[in-house]
Amino acid sequence: MALTRRTFDALIIGGGGGGLRAALQLARSDLKVAVVSKVFPTRSHTVSAQGGITAALGNVSEDHWLWHMYDTVKGSDYLGDQDAIEFMCRNAQEVVYELEHFGLPFSRLDNGRIYQRPFGGQSREFGGGQAVRTCAAADRTGHALLQTLYQRNVHARTHFFDEFFAVDLIQDAHGDCLGALVLEIETGEPVLLEARATLLATGGAGRIFHHSTNALINTGDGLGLALRAGIPLQDMEFWQFHPTGIAGVGCLITEGARGEGGFLVNRLGERFMEGYAPHAQDLASRDVVARAMAVEIRAGRGCGPAGDYLELRLAHLGPDLIRSRLPAIRELARTFAHVDPIDAPIPVVPTAHYMMGGIPTNLDGQVVAPHRFGPEEPVPGLYAVGECACVSVHGANRLGGNSLLDLIVFGRAAGNHMTAYLRDNPFPKPLPADALDRAMARLARWARRGAGEPVGPIREALGKTMETYCGVFRNETRLATAQAELEALAQRLAGAVLRDHSAAFNTARIEALETENLLEAARATVVSARARQESRGAHAREDFPSRDDARWLKHTLYYREGAVLDYKPVRLKPLTVEPFQPKERHY
Ligand code: FUM
Repeated sequence: MALTRRTFDALIIGGGGGGLRAALQLARSDLKVAVVSKVFPTRSHTVSAQGGITAALGNVSEDHWLWHMYDTVKGSDYLGDQDAIEFMCRNAQEVVYELEHFGLPFSRLDNGRIYQRPFGGQSREFGGGQAVRTCAAADRTGHALLQTLYQRNVHARTHFFDEFFAVDLIQDAHGDCLGALVLEIETGEPVLLEARATLLATGGAGRIFHHSTNALINTGDGLGLALRAGIPLQDMEFWQFHPTGIAGVGCLITEGARGEGGFLVNRLGERFMEGYAPHAQDLASRDVVARAMAVEIRAGRGCGPAGDYLELRLAHLGPDLIRSRLPAIRELARTFAHVDPIDAPIPVVPTAHYMMGGIPTNLDGQVVAPHRFGPEEPVPGLYAVGECACVSVHGANRLGGNSLLDLIVFGRAAGNHMTAYLRDNPFPKPLPADALDRAMARLARWARRGAGEPVGPIREALGKTMETYCGVFRNETRLATAQAELEALAQRLAGAVLRDHSAAFNTARIEALETENLLEAARATVVSARARQESRGAHAREDFPSRDDARWLKHTLYYREGAVLDYKPVRLKPLTVEPFQPKERHY
C-alpha cells in the first residue's frame, strides 16, 4: 500500500504550550504549519500547570526583571546559562501581556491588573523580601493558557493532526531534518510528514517514575526521537521533585497553595521548614523543600500510620480564599486524598515533577549538537522547546512558574527563527532512498508475533526502579543498582511482544513505542547521575554532599550510542548585564 505523504513548511511535534506558541508565530506569517499531537492538543500536559507564569510585572509590589534573573540563576544552583536566563526574564513581561491580549483570562487584582502571587525562590532586591511575581488564572493557569493558544491557532489556520504518534525523525545523510514518520492512532496507518523545519515540543518524561505529577502521556517521546537521530541529551541527571504531590497518588497540589499562605507540618505539628530555610521557609526553592521533607520522613517525623507523608495546612486561609484562588486543588484533594482543605490538611510527599535536562538548544530553539565531541552547531531544520528541550534556563533546579514562561518565551523565539529559516531555505531537500528505514523498522519490530512477555509489567518495573534507586537522595550503590536493573529491563523489552496486532486504536502498540522512549530517558538519567560526583540543585548525592564547582560546573551530554558522556561549559556570561558569580545558596 502506498504511504500517505503530506508536505508542510513547518512541522510541530507536540500540542502543548511551547508547540502551540511556536505554531501560532508561524501560522501568523502565512506559513503552512502542522501540529502533530498524540492527544487532542488541549489535553496536553500544559493543561495541568496550576500556579502560574512568572514575570516581574510589579502589580503587587515593586519588581524588576533583573531580580527575577538573579533568583533564577541562584535557583539553578548556577548551572543555568546566564545568557538564556537573561533572555527569558527580560522578555517575560512582553510575552505575558501578549497572552493577555490573546485573551488569556487571568485572575484580577481589585485595580483590574493581572493577579500575581508569591512563589518559591522568588525574592526582591537580590535575595531580600519575598517577591509577588507569579501571574495566575486561579490555580488553572496552564488550562487557560492552552485553551487560549489553541483557539488562536485554529483562527490562524494551523493544521492539526490530532491523535497521531511520532515514530521517528526523517533525516538526510548529513543529519538534516526533513520531517517525521507518524502513526495515525485511529487507523494504525503510518503517514510521512515532510517539512523544511521541524520543532520538537513533546514535553517531559516524568513517567519514568512510578509516582509522578505528570500525565500518563509524558513518556519522553521527543527525547527518544532525538537520541535515535544521534543527538545527545543534556543534564538529564537533574529531576525536580515537587514538594506537594498528593501522597500515594502523585497529583500536584500547587506551590501557589503555599504562596497563598499554606504551610507544611510534620507529625509533631511543627512547621519544620523554619529549621531548614529560616528566611524563605515554605517558599524556599523546591529542591530545598523536597529534601527537607525527605529528611523529616526519614527521621520518623512523618505523618500517618506509616509515617510516610507530611501535611499541608490551608484551613486557616478561610473558605473564600480557597474557593476563589485554589478551586482546582480543593477538587483534587477531595477526589484523590478524600479531604477538604477548607477543614483538613492535605497529605503530601515530594513527587517527581519536572525534567531540567533535555535536547540541547540555543536561544532561537535550534537544536545544537556537537559533531561527536567536536564543536557544537545547529542541526539544520531541527528545533526544540519546552520541557523536552534544555536551553538551559533551569540548570540544576527550576523555580516554580518558570516553566510556563520558558514555553512561551522560547516557543515564540523558535517560531520567529523558523520563519526566517524557511524564508532563507525555500526549497525542500531531497529525501534519500533509505530515509524511512529507521522509522519503519521501529514499527515492524512491534509486528513480531510468537512467545514473549507483554510490555505493561516492564513499564511498571521501570517506574518502580527509578523511584527506588534514583529519587530525591542518590548514591553510587543505588545508582549502580538502577543501571543494572535498567539493562535487565532493556533485555526484557527486546523480547516483548504484543498480544493485539489490530490496526485501529491499538493502544498496546503505542504503549510499547512509549516504553522504548521511557527506557531511553531513564538510562540517560541514571548514567548522567552516576557520573556527577557532587550535589547540586535537585541532584543530591549522599556520597558527595557538597557542590564542587571546580570539577562539576559544567553541563552533561549523554549519547545513546555506547551510553557515553561528554561535557560542555556553562555559559556564565549574560547578554548585557554583569554575571552573577556562583556562591553558596541560602534561603
Ligand atoms: O506548583 C505549581 O503550580 C507548579 C508550577 C510549576 O511547576 O511551574
